[in-house]
Amino acid sequence: MTDQIRLLVVEDVPQVAQYIRGLLNSQTAIKLLDVVSDGNRVLTLIAELRPDVVIVDALLQGRVKGMSVVAQINQSGLHVPVIVLTVPQQPVTVDVYNGVHGVLAMPFTGYELVTRLQQVHVTSKVTEGTGTARMISVFAPKGGVGKTTISFNLAVAIGQTGLRTVLIDGSLQFGDMRALLKVPIEAPSLLDLPTDRIQESDLADVLWRDPSGIDILLAPPRIEMAEMVTVRDLEKVLSLLRRVYEVVIVDTPAVVNDINLAFLDSSDTILEVVTYDSTTIHSTMVMADAFRMIGYPPTKVRYLINRADSTGGFDPEVLNRALGRAPEHSVASGGALVVRANNEGIPFVLADPSAEISQDVTRTANELLGRAVPAPARR
Ligand SMILES: Nc1ncnc2c1ncn2[C@@H]1O[C@H](COP(=O)(O)OP(=O)(O)OP(=O)(O)O)[C@@H](O)[C@H]1O
Ligand SMILES: [Mg+2]
Repeated sequence: MTDQIRLLVVEDVPQVAQYIRGLLNSQTAIKLLDVVSDGNRVLTLIAELRPDVVIVDALLQGRVKGMSVVAQINQSGLHVPVIVLTVPQQPVTVDVYNGVHGVLAMPFTGYELVTRLQQVHVTSKVTEGTGTARMISVFAPKGGVGKTTISFNLAVAIGQTGLRTVLIDGSLQFGDMRALLKVPIEAPSLLDLPTDRIQESDLADVLWRDPSGIDILLAPPRIEMAEMVTVRDLEKVLSLLRRVYEVVIVDTPAVVNDINLAFLDSSDTILEVVTYDSTTIHSTMVMADAFRMIGYPPTKVRYLINRADSTGGFDPEVLNRALGRAPEHSVASGGALVVRANNEGIPFVLADPSAEISQDVTRTANELLGRAVPAPARR
């Protein structure tokens, strides 16, 4: 059978290995290639056996422990999804950036094992098809909370690490990025890309090469032109960009429509900006409900509290309770630096890398990518 899922198991407890073998015995969807007990041998075996999915026991003992094996696989460039096996007392959460594509808590049934393997396998094939870039949409259901400011500076901070980064101005009607960067009206936009047979070579003519080192796909120059962008065209553009770039950041507008949902659907992460303000928090909760209905997993959304130091008397606990958790990221108020940098069309992470707000954005980039992002060089 050609569509069997090829599985490698990293497990040093013989009873558990035997249990998995037993569960897989009576079915044909999964082919167990091998069980390896030594964390040191995992990368070599993956290169040799070419599994579709690897299961790693989080509690693996020996010189290389379970979660280090997971990290090694993630950093190896072998592009194989990993399911972490754990016990309920030591919960592990799915974290694709850090190489945890699925989790199985013991004890599990044969049905659970096979479905989880199939889920992870299908998802990894889909991402392969659209390229391997990480796509992060900066979103908020409320206007004016700092989406454009944060997405621009975040993209630049990520670009500074050497990752090929593209920023998409998803505010198709108002094209905030055009204003921010003072781009001439005739500068090409998303609409200048061919709709069928779009190729990598088409990008060079259309993308705006910003002095800050990132490429920017601009929105159309006039409001009514936004309607000319279809979801289908947009999906093609996104899939091309995800093949060419390593990181795709989208500055989205505060609306819920087909186009914006296409951005959010395609994203690995929705970075949702909140502020200490009761109407913003209300919209955020309404949005969380909508995301649940759409079926986004809770891990797809990460909250960023902007102007984290200006609570305006708001009790941060109230926000945490509303969100059901503390925001994963926070950015301080930048005061005059932000106004000046925005007015000059320069990212503050480059204009003043040591400012608190710049360090916050750089740290957020770091946290989002799960890798070290060095402080950007001074201009
Ligand atoms: N952390 C911050 N510190 C100081 N000023 C900020 C901060 N974040 C945003 N601002 C300012 O707030 C204003 C709105 O920010 P921005 O345009 O980025 O918001 P937005 O969410 O993109 O708005 P819109 O919904 O209109 O697209 C800008 O003047 C910006 O300079
Ligand atoms: Mg904006």
